[in-house]
Amino acid sequence: MDKLIITGGTQLSGELRISGAKNAALPVLAATLLCEEPVSIGNIPHLHDITTTMQLLGQMGIQLTIDEKMNIEVDSSTITKYEAPYDLVKTMRASILVLGPLLSRFGEANVSLPGGCAIGTRPVDIHIESLIKMGADIKVEAGYIHAKAGRLKGCKLVLEKVTVTGTENLLMAAVLAEGVTVIENAAKEPEVSDLALFLNKMGAKITGIDTDVLTIEGVSKLDAKNIHYDILPDRIETGTYLVAGAITRGKVKLKNTRPDTLDAVLDKLREAGATITTGDDWIELDMYGKRPKAVNIRTAPYPAFPTDMQAQFTAMNSIAEGVGIITETVFENRFMHVQEMQRMGADIQLESNTAICKGSEQLTGAPVMATDLRASASLVLAGLVAKGETLVDRIYHIDRGYDHIEEKLAQLGGTIKRIPK
Ligand code: EPU
Repeated sequence: MDKLIITGGTQLSGELRISGAKNAALPVLAATLLCEEPVSIGNIPHLHDITTTMQLLGQMGIQLTIDEKMNIEVDSSTITKYEAPYDLVKTMRASILVLGPLLSRFGEANVSLPGGCAIGTRPVDIHIESLIKMGADIKVEAGYIHAKAGRLKGCKLVLEKVTVTGTENLLMAAVLAEGVTVIENAAKEPEVSDLALFLNKMGAKITGIDTDVLTIEGVSKLDAKNIHYDILPDRIETGTYLVAGAITRGKVKLKNTRPDTLDAVLDKLREAGATITTGDDWIELDMYGKRPKAVNIRTAPYPAFPTDMQAQFTAMNSIAEGVGIITETVFENRFMHVQEMQRMGADIQLESNTAICKGSEQLTGAPVMATDLRASASLVLAGLVAKGETLVDRIYHIDRGYDHIEEKLAQLGGTIKRIPK
């Protein structure tokens, strides 16, 4: 397995271009299953999860062509199988996103249950129960969700919890359903809105985008021709590089991003002492020579502070001035990075879903590893300020969700190298 070796101590400075959002690209690629004509998707990030999604669609018989600019053209007219097998789903939970579109367009879907996950139990009960309400016949047998339906029927769905991929699956299912579907307590994450905008571009009729009530008037087919859609910039990648700038007391400018999707994160960076300047599609963070101040964080669905930025802020708090309290409310087990940071000298106390971080003057480099994507990224951030060398193992997690992280950090002056297996 590849490893990253980081020598800490450099103040990061310079400019970087942010990639397309992983968590928007995955549902948009799944949504191409709904269109009867070929569609082209741009601003696709270079990530393992994208390769897995292409494999998933490819093994269904779908034709995918990719050009040198990472535009992917998808033609779903050649589909032969309606299945997401265990060997792909186990490496990428987001494979569950094919359930809604397969069932809605082809009346059949066999999707492996995602199973356990490093950050919590992550059930998909809301996806399944809501599809049953829309008229699907669903059996869970031998680790698979077997779903069948005639034309799904629009209805009112009040989601018990705010779920991002749950909202996305139901949105895709509702687009071709008969009648009107109303999804209440829908997720408002920008990636959900990006999917809805893409679906509308293909001919869907969705209103209430960016709110927690989505109304979908079903259409009989999506057959818009010559569609090209560019994926939204990645707000979590953006946030991660902003923290990289702040934690190293540096100054970074991130281009091709969307400041309006990062309000809660930018507020917390300001509170930590950073000067933030924004334009329509760029953000500059200036923390030059200043030690960050510890901040309190409480994760919650958008527009509150994202759980996907919690680990990175834990890293920043671990070297900040003062004490920061981090409360994780979205996933029950998302503090896997804490023990590794403690091995680097961080003073963090865990009490159920709360981490109390007392900032240390200095962390020390150590061999570390993590079992999920954002936790791995937070260890890279800790390594950038630690004294000496940090060796981050199991970085296939990072490659799932960060486009060329070592090249991007090196571009900002970080000392980081990939060691191939
Ligand atoms: N939940 C249920 N039942 C369901 C669905 C969800 O109880 O049927 C619970 C979950 O267990 C969790 C909460 O609802 O406690 C929220 O989970 P959600 O369904 O929103 O998470 P997700 O859709 O599986 C997406 C992102 C995650 C991100 C979360 C929260 C994608 C592909 N994944 O996951 O991203 O953390 O929303 O914002 O969009 C990452 O990129 O590193 C990542 C983990």
